[in-house]
Amino acid sequence: MNITLSQKVSYNRLKADTLVVPLFKGEKEIAYALPASVKKLVASVIASKEFQCGTLETQVLHTGGNGVSRVCLLGLGEKKECTLDVVQRAYGTAIMRLKKAKAKSVALIVRGDAVQGKTYAEICARAVLGVRMAQYHFVAYKSKSKKEIAHIGRVVLMGDVSDDRATKSAYARAMALADALDFARDLGNTPPNHATPAYIADAVKALAAKIPGTTATIFDKARIVKEKMGGLLGVAQGSQHEPRFIIFDYKGHTCNDKSAPCRPIVLVGKAITFDTGGISLKPGKSMDEMKFDMCGGAAVIATVAAAARLRLPVHVVALVPAAENMPSHTAYKPSDVLTLLDGTTLEVLNTDAEGRVVLADGLLYAKKYQPKAIVDVATLTGAIVVALGDYAAGLFTPDNDCAAAFARIGEETGDRVWRMPLVKEWADTLKSTVADVRQVPTQRIADATIGGLFLQHFVDAKTSWAHLDIASTAWKTEGASYVEPGATGASVRLLVAWLEEISRGE
Ligand code: BES
Ligand code: ZN
Ligand code: ZN
Repeated sequence: MNITLSQKVSYNRLKADTLVVPLFKGEKEIAYALPASVKKLVASVIASKEFQCGTLETQVLHTGGNGVSRVCLLGLGEKKECTLDVVQRAYGTAIMRLKKAKAKSVALIVRGDAVQGKTYAEICARAVLGVRMAQYHFVAYKSKSKKEIAHIGRVVLMGDVSDDRATKSAYARAMALADALDFARDLGNTPPNHATPAYIADAVKALAAKIPGTTATIFDKARIVKEKMGGLLGVAQGSQHEPRFIIFDYKGHTCNDKSAPCRPIVLVGKAITFDTGGISLKPGKSMDEMKFDMCGGAAVIATVAAAARLRLPVHVVALVPAAENMPSHTAYKPSDVLTLLDGTTLEVLNTDAEGRVVLADGLLYAKKYQPKAIVDVATLTGAIVVALGDYAAGLFTPDNDCAAAFARIGEETGDRVWRMPLVKEWADTLKSTVADVRQVPTQRIADATIGGLFLQHFVDAKTSWAHLDIASTAWKTEGASYVEPGATGASVRLLVAWLEEISRGE
């Protein structure tokens, strides 16, 4: 899709079939220089109360004219309650609506006064992101004749630009972030017979070749054996697809202090390319959704890609253990004991709790970097879906500052997280009678918290660490106001904004 910016709202030379006009509650007419006939049409629809300017409300009107044949009214709700997140969702919603209306080229008016205390550049960038997120459509596996989905080829955002340079750079940031989201969503949506561990590794190699400053290092099975990652090997051993351990590194600054190690931020992402549950087989219902069980891995890869495209002055590394969890005569089974990277022995009790097993090796490998901070991202438990629906991802961290930062950034970006407890007293339930640790307690309690406690076991208490359980947000079955059904790219916006804050020294 071609998205351009225009510094002025001009109707006459508009090359678009549809014009989107944002309106707040209480506004009775359009303040822009539009043809009198259009203004009259809009005023009458508002007067009839058919369109009430509610948040995300849309109404498509036919102008009857040539050129701009449609005007789409877009409700932004109460003006004093409008946030950047509302802007993003609203512009995305308009695009979703106009895809249905088979629009081919759309012009959207962006209002610099939409959000109190925010600049035109910030508002415009969020509109761009909303448009891009709504426009995303996964068609890679549609045959040629079916590829012709509703596609808006051209989009122009028009507004009375106050600072052109700031607007252009905010626009570039939004586009880079949207590219990263598209990448994460593509990987998530790719069917699991195609998106194998080797496929993901190849995709990361291709990214590294394209983005300056990044490197991809791929461990194949032989190397994983050499590294003694017994957790990743154990989970993978039931599948015909061999595992990979993927390292995607971006170094955006030079470390001045040569005597001290350059301590990166390490992101660890779960990439189970398909989770059948293994020998502890999952029920058939909705099992297809387990192709999304690699969305944590996709998110951390996409985050590193975005950091690099934005040239952030940070060193950030994504570690992605990738495997398929299958039942077979070679599969690992309940009561097996696996030996992890650092020699820790792990008693397996449920082969469906495979995410924590591969992540344990990932977190142990992270130690080699002496990281400044570790964040792991995983579709770890069904329990987090029960707790939060698709409202937010579960955030587990003992670090209150980190929790506050993520909660705030999540709210600002619309990539929400909700803090959940790491109940210290329950850590003992993971003691094993035959091995050092067990993977799940014998009594089933609070799966999501137990998952967090298990992961915490493999992180140094001195290292700042957070675990994001994105099973609640990583994909949508129904779609949402501005996201098509399928992978959402959850946690990419959150992590990129967090890295930006770190880059600014906040
Ligand atoms: N990938 C699943 C988690 C999941 C389930 C995400 C449903 C989204 C929807 C994970 O590997 C898993 O199966 N977890 C188990 C853990 C349990 C055995 C402690 C679960 O949630 O049931
Ligand atoms: Zn599982
Ligand atoms: Zn899983």
